Amino acid sequence: MCGIVGYIGPRDCVPIILEGLRRLEYRGYDSAGIALVKGGRIQVHKKAGKVAALAESVRINGNGLSGGLGMGHTRWATHGEPTDVNAHPHFDAASEIAIVHIGIIENYRAIKTALVRDGHTFVSATDTEVLAHLIGETYKTAGDLTTAVRLALARVEGTYGLVVLSSREPDKLVAARKGSPLIIGVGEGENFVASDAAAIVEHTRHVVYLEDGEVAEVTRDKVRTMTIEDVEVEKLVHEVTLELSQIERGGYEHFMLKEIHEQPETICNAMRGRLLVEEGDVKLGGLQNVLGKLLSARRIVITACGTSWHAALVGKYMLEQIARVPTDVEYASEFRYRNPIINIDDVVLLVSQSGETADTLAALREAKSKGATVLGIVNVVGSTIARESDGGVYIHAGPEIGVASTKAFTSQLTVLALVTLLLARARGMPREKGRLLAQELASLPQKVEGILTRDEQIKRIAEEFGDHKNFLYLGRGANFPVALEGALKLKEISYIHAEGYPAAEMKHGPIALIDEQMPVVVIVPKDAIHEKVLSNIQEVKARRGRIIAVANDDDTEIDQLAEFVIRVPRTYGFFGPIINVIPLQLLAYYIAVARGTNVDQPRNLAKSVTVE
Ligand code: AGP
Repeated sequence: MCGIVGYIGPRDCVPIILEGLRRLEYRGYDSAGIALVKGGRIQVHKKAGKVAALAESVRINGNGLSGGLGMGHTRWATHGEPTDVNAHPHFDAASEIAIVHIGIIENYRAIKTALVRDGHTFVSATDTEVLAHLIGETYKTAGDLTTAVRLALARVEGTYGLVVLSSREPDKLVAARKGSPLIIGVGEGENFVASDAAAIVEHTRHVVYLEDGEVAEVTRDKVRTMTIEDVEVEKLVHEVTLELSQIERGGYEHFMLKEIHEQPETICNAMRGRLLVEEGDVKLGGLQNVLGKLLSARRIVITACGTSWHAALVGKYMLEQIARVPTDVEYASEFRYRNPIINIDDVVLLVSQSGETADTLAALREAKSKGATVLGIVNVVGSTIARESDGGVYIHAGPEIGVASTKAFTSQLTVLALVTLLLARARGMPREKGRLLAQELASLPQKVEGILTRDEQIKRIAEEFGDHKNFLYLGRGANFPVALEGALKLKEISYIHAEGYPAAEMKHGPIALIDEQMPVVVIVPKDAIHEKVLSNIQEVKARRGRIIAVANDDDTEIDQLAEFVIRVPRTYGFFGPIINVIPLQLLAYYIAVARGTNVDQPRNLAKSVTVE
């Protein structure tokens, strides 16, 4: 949610900040702004719309704006519409302090009422401007910016990742974190602040992760970190391995299409050095310390949001059917407030691409507070969920820039399959059975490669349905979550209403929606319930629904039933979702392209949801 970049050093910060914001735009892109201290005062430029609009405004109206101390923000609105006035940075009453902020100040109304009573007036509808005024007010007694920020934050309820600068102290940035991720980039004679490494990796690979409740005073040559209560904190400097090329489109029209086509490689990366085909077994370094807990777990609870929640649903099928481990799946946003019954011999798995999703992080802390072992299946290295888990597995999908998650989903499923095989073997599955499953997993990248060659066929189908208003997705067993995922992809990037349903559930209501205007996408692999799904397709056909089937290469019956058939290779049933979702990703992508929506930055969405 939102992106922040700050710089202090000898170079001109304007191009550094604007380029950094452009790299963070997937985190929020409805308005942007930049602030610099120059000539004893703060200069600010804010613009509704993309970072490009801000850059253009700075070029035309910036009057050669430049300087060595500055910060910027790209926004995903929570309080106040995306307008020039509501864009960040925001000022205090004296316009001597400016702030950029990610998160929500929950008690901003109460603070605002008190400040209005003291004569403060506000220009925006944001919670953040209230915090700027509070810091300005506190500054009067605190005497220095770092202390003013600490004391003001002691009165704040809510979440924040923020940076503050002042025209009265043009030699520092003050950063603070509670809930929203923030890192310090350590340079030579210069330093950076950013929401994630993608914004600053071309300048430094040395980063410090701020933890909740920490404040950092950042000058050109020094980073001093303390708690809100002013207790000094020694911080480790980590090395990030991210490559710039990984965050470029590499010749593809959109990051989403690039990431869909990366899946043969990313599924491979998720298994590299972990899948022991000859032994029919799995080795996961990140679980070594908690293997005992995992093997003796009374049950596994998987919790997540969005696409990661769909991966969790497939994980339940795998863990229960293959490893016979009782597994529950929970929406993290519900789990955190449901006072769930969690026992110390439960293992709670948190699945998250970003590792920063607020609801999933809160579910982790809830489970931990109840004594469970908490494990993360995460993509972003060094993210908060990874750092706060007792153990876990990185999915190694590389940076996922497209807001609609694709490669992270198939890598999450691959890691869930590895965890399943690890537990199944440890719980007595014979080596030979393990070898067969391991060989099947090892064959997936090549099978996915094959599907990606059917791009053109899927593009033609997409063009046929680009102007439809509703879609229904159907699947059974482990492919029901795939139907949910296909529907989510279409909703996210094409803005078409779509629903995923267990195929057999259709006749209990959704069938009323079906007529010749309703495209129905059915996942129908040749598995144990193939005939059942064919009957569901018959029910749709009887009501003249337009059927798009995802079926196996050797399925000879489906041609008689479906208007369009997208062929996918066969694989072991519970690994099928890793393959069957690919055509649905491409279908959603090409429908969105046909409708001209912004595929990589769909409206109203953000890549990492760090607020409730
Ligand atoms: C999926 O395409 C969406 N971007 C969204 O549903 C996402 O899966 C959800 O916000 C969870 O994010 P996470 O995996 O980073 O926790």
